[in-house]
Amino acid sequence: MKNNSLVIQDVSLSYDNGKILAIENISFSVSADTVCVIIGPSGSGKSTLLRTIAGIEKNFDGNIFLGREKLSPKNKKIGFVPQNYGLYPWRTVEENILIGVKIKSKINDDIILKMNSIMESLGIFDFRHRFPGELSGGQQQRVSLARAFLLNADLLLMDEPFSALDAITREETQNIFLSLWKKNKLITILVTHDVDEALYLGKTIIVLSKKGRIWEILNNPFFGNREEIYNKNFIDMRARIREHIQKAGADI
Ligand SMILES: Nc1ncnc2c1ncn2[C@@H]1O[C@H](COP(=O)(O)OP(=O)(O)OP(=O)(O)O)[C@@H](O)[C@H]1O
Ligand SMILES: [Mg+2]
Repeated sequence: MKNNSLVIQDVSLSYDNGKILAIENISFSVSADTVCVIIGPSGSGKSTLLRTIAGIEKNFDGNIFLGREKLSPKNKKIGFVPQNYGLYPWRTVEENILIGVKIKSKINDDIILKMNSIMESLGIFDFRHRFPGELSGGQQQRVSLARAFLLNADLLLMDEPFSALDAITREETQNIFLSLWKKNKLITILVTHDVDEALYLGKTIIVLSKKGRIWEILNNPFFGNREEIYNKNFIDMRARIREHIQKAGADI
């Protein structure tokens, strides 16, 4: 089942009894084994769209399919890294990371080994017995990532997952994500407002307009490649996305 596409059909969602239309008529599909990046200005509906796909926002119009079935968190494992990390303050780092797996399957030695290796690579192993309140924002964000990476999900959804990290840790963590993803490819949607992150991590890039609509869907030949920063096509693509986001952000 892991090889089916995710299909989003005419999805709209409003808050406050219809007063705030957060996303409108969103349609796109993500083929199997693809990282799709959603980028757009603040308030353009990125988190709303991700929470809707995750099954957290239930009151939407339209359809969301994974393969032939309607997507539901009840019968699919969805790894979700929310914008606020979504950690339980009363559980330790280790307990927080294991919680997703615990709900879906039994914890065994393999899972513990894999968890330890993910914690090591993300630089949080030494904090495993601490509580989230005893960690920095960037450390908490890595705990949230570790939980999603460990789940072996059908679908991975990440909302600005590297935003709290300093520039160097951010690049390292993007690389860790990409190498883990390449070993175990799954449909992934990553939300960001950083154009360079979109160009590095998005095979498909969906650019939203200010008002929760799709402005453009781009195929990105520079996916997984940091070496092309002087390539004219790269520079043009980067400038186009950047300009759109700046304009859309200013245009209320
Ligand atoms: N729970 C809510 N109740 C009412 N309005 C909301 C709620 N959540 C979001 N909104 C509104 O819906 C719109 C989309 O918000 P959303 O959080 O999806 O944007 P975003 O693109 O993720 O922004 P950011 O880049 O700042 O995280 C905004 O106008 C926001 O004010
Ligand atoms: Mg958001």
